[in-house]
Amino acid sequence: MSDSNFLQCAADTHVLSKEQIIALLRDDKYEKELFSTADEVRRKFVGDEVHLRGLIEFSNICKNNCLYCGLRRDNLKIKRYRMSPEEIVGLASRAAHDYGFKTIVMQSGEDLWFTPERLKEIISEIKKFDVAITLSIGEKTFEEYATYKEAGADRYLIRIETTDKDLYHRLDPDMSWEARKQCLVNLGKLGYEVGSGIMVGLPGQTMESIADDLIFLKEMNIDMAGIGPFIPHPDTPLKNEKGRAFNLSLRTMAVMRLLLPDINIPATTAMETLHPDGRIIALQCGANVIMPNVTEGEYRQLYQLYPGKAALNETPLYSKTNFGMRIEAIGRKIGTGYGSRKK
Ligand code: 5AD
Ligand code: SF4
Repeated sequence: MSDSNFLQCAADTHVLSKEQIIALLRDDKYEKELFSTADEVRRKFVGDEVHLRGLIEFSNICKNNCLYCGLRRDNLKIKRYRMSPEEIVGLASRAAHDYGFKTIVMQSGEDLWFTPERLKEIISEIKKFDVAITLSIGEKTFEEYATYKEAGADRYLIRIETTDKDLYHRLDPDMSWEARKQCLVNLGKLGYEVGSGIMVGLPGQTMESIADDLIFLKEMNIDMAGIGPFIPHPDTPLKNEKGRAFNLSLRTMAVMRLLLPDINIPATTAMETLHPDGRIIALQCGANVIMPNVTEGEYRQLYQLYPGKAALNETPLYSKTNFGMRIEAIGRKIGTGYGSRKK
């Protein structure tokens, strides 16, 4: 018996101890087997379809000051923009009708101009295009989440970022880890498909802490998990930190697939930023979703959470055809449905 038999066992039981998770994350000892096991589990539970979600980054204005993020309010170097509701709906219409995206993801900083009333209007207009709608707009009250749900939102992404509370409070001043967790709970209660996730390679983050993150996401039974490497941004306080942990991010993602076999896991843009083929590699290590950016024009360059964001110049059409080819080249196909989690 090889000493990696626990991996085959995890592929069947979806249980790993914290020590086993740490052993998988810590170095590349089990990496090859981990990736192939995650790929097998992915095929068995969610199949060969890769779901494409059209991402609209509709405002880079943010009231928060997360130390790692280029959109933080104290970053005065960035040119800020806010799309009009008409622009957002127009982009969504093109993404749905011209390019055939079945999910639209609306992402922004925490921009208070977008009141529940304004968002409600936008969501109900986009909902007419026969698409699933995912929101990724930060921490809101239960009532606000309820309003968006009624208007037609189906899914919500809000990463917990880290479950190490001290680290969280150091990196996200003025924010509360408990409040963030409560958002996940509230979204679940309201019947959203809930996405969360973490950054990997944060300064001060340990393997133990990443293992705790994975266990937390499993316990919360989240429907989607976005896991990406932290990439230091030159105009933030973390500019001199290391980050850029590509392989560790892949390993973390692969372990997530073992623990929650039937969820949606995106191959994140941050991975592509560190490796020209990052997303295609991620698709072979447990991921089954890609979120091409359908934001057009100047705005695209301005949504810089981190520097060198991949695919800055990809048009939606290019994304669709290019991904189509690359996805087929690895024996997969583009998903035709909404790509919800099948529970
Ligand atoms: N590197 C990588 N990911 C980042 N995010 C924010 N800043 C960075 C960075 N510097 C991620 C956070 C956030 C998501 C929208 O982008 O996890 O939740
Ligand atoms: Fe704002 Fe999100 Fe960036 Fe934090 S990570 S500063 S909340 S956009």
